[in-house]
Amino acid sequence: MANVAVIGAQWGDEGKGKIVDWLAERADMVVRFQGGHNAGHTLVVGENVYKLSLLPSGIVRGTPSVIGNGVVLDPWALKAEVEKLGAQGVAISPETLVVADTCPLILPFHRDLDGLREDASGAGKIGTTRRGIGPAYEDKVGRRAIRVCDLAHLDDLGPQLDRLTAHHDALRAGFGEPPIDREALLAELRDIAGFVLSFAQPAWRLLNEARSRGRRILFEGAQGVLLDIDHGTYPFVTSSNTVSGTASAGTGIGPSGVGFVLGIAKAYTTRVGSGPFPTELEDETGTRLGERGHEFGTVTGRKRRCGWFDAVLVRQSAAVGGITGIALTKIDVLDGFEEVKICTGYRLRGETLDYFPAHAADQALVEPVYEAMPGWSESTAGARSWAELPAQAIKYVRRIEELIRCPVALLSTSPEREDTILVRDPFAD
Ligand code: GDP
Ligand code: IMO
Ligand code: MG
Repeated sequence: MANVAVIGAQWGDEGKGKIVDWLAERADMVVRFQGGHNAGHTLVVGENVYKLSLLPSGIVRGTPSVIGNGVVLDPWALKAEVEKLGAQGVAISPETLVVADTCPLILPFHRDLDGLREDASGAGKIGTTRRGIGPAYEDKVGRRAIRVCDLAHLDDLGPQLDRLTAHHDALRAGFGEPPIDREALLAELRDIAGFVLSFAQPAWRLLNEARSRGRRILFEGAQGVLLDIDHGTYPFVTSSNTVSGTASAGTGIGPSGVGFVLGIAKAYTTRVGSGPFPTELEDETGTRLGERGHEFGTVTGRKRRCGWFDAVLVRQSAAVGGITGIALTKIDVLDGFEEVKICTGYRLRGETLDYFPAHAADQALVEPVYEAMPGWSESTAGARSWAELPAQAIKYVRRIEELIRCPVALLSTSPEREDTILVRDPFAD
């Protein structure tokens, strides 16, 4: 019996939400382990569309959900999302949602700083979601953070708050911003504390108890391996580790508790925000991919950059992310293309590379080497079995498996929950 970790194998937005929601039917618990409300996970169930940023995607099915310690938590974003989902008929209570009492908080000045830095960076900006994710992780690692458990002791924050505000006041002064209003901050925290604390628990205990009772745990990653702080396209990355190892550190379950690692990859590539993207298509084909795939950011509404499938990058993600099998999504977006291309290597200063180099300048310079395949005119949209797929689409999937050296376990053919083909059950491994 395996637990399953779902991680993005590209630059995010691969369809993790859809796949987690689908797999949640087989899981006893769904757990987020990193990132924050920079994520935007879309679930389509019949007529209903749910967009989740902080809440684990199992919540829509009513599968008990946990926000693990590796997540940076904006209390006001949590409240707004719980209310939004409530208005869509998804009731969320301490029975169905647990928040780790060790989650560091994202506070209003983190969001300010994220925006101030982006605005000051001009062309060099990262294109963050401006949610305060980076600054909040900096404070966690800098041992200055206020955590969920501190909300129960707001009157004793004294020296801890001194350290935090001293650090931020200096940064704010550099941007010409006024110092933090401590009393106003404390008042806001007092206001929200009860709400957050109603969900707070030592989540590691709950998870380890569930594990010892043989419960199936589904770990839900946010972002993707190419946005990982260590393994991604640094500095154009997010501020957490997005690889499967974080499913352990970000929840308090040992690494042996994470079994099958399901990497989610689109049948092509997208990226939102700045940074290198070797197979990016700034032509009609790229526009067509974006239009067919409705490639607009879930969180910020920004247009996503589009390009062909990059097998070099996904092979690298599979290796560093410890991916056991791939869920290939959005194959239907390629329906009707006369020809489809896959990047199989790079050319850099006259040399051929079979990996993505580390240096940002090299990453920006590499030229993709493509393999072209005939496309398919038939529709894959809504296919629910392998037998419904056109022969040429199957060849495309098989070629991707070969190039990335990883089998396809699931195939997704539309946004709708049930339009999913199971090739190999991750929970059965
Ligand atoms: P996530 O961040 O990885 O959860 O992905 P997003 O939800 O940000 O973006 C994926 C988008 O593609 C969403 O709008 C999904 O509804 C949609 N989607 C997911 N799987 C498929 C698929 O197989 N085909 C199509 N056409 N759309 C899909
Ligand atoms: P999901 O979970 C796509 C990108 C931002 C930016 C960089 C840093 O929906 O796949 P941050 O706000 O994290 O400091 O921004 O990371 N980014 C994402 N791109 N999908 C996401 O999440 C993302 N979360 C962050 O666009 O380039
Ligand atoms: Mg997304």
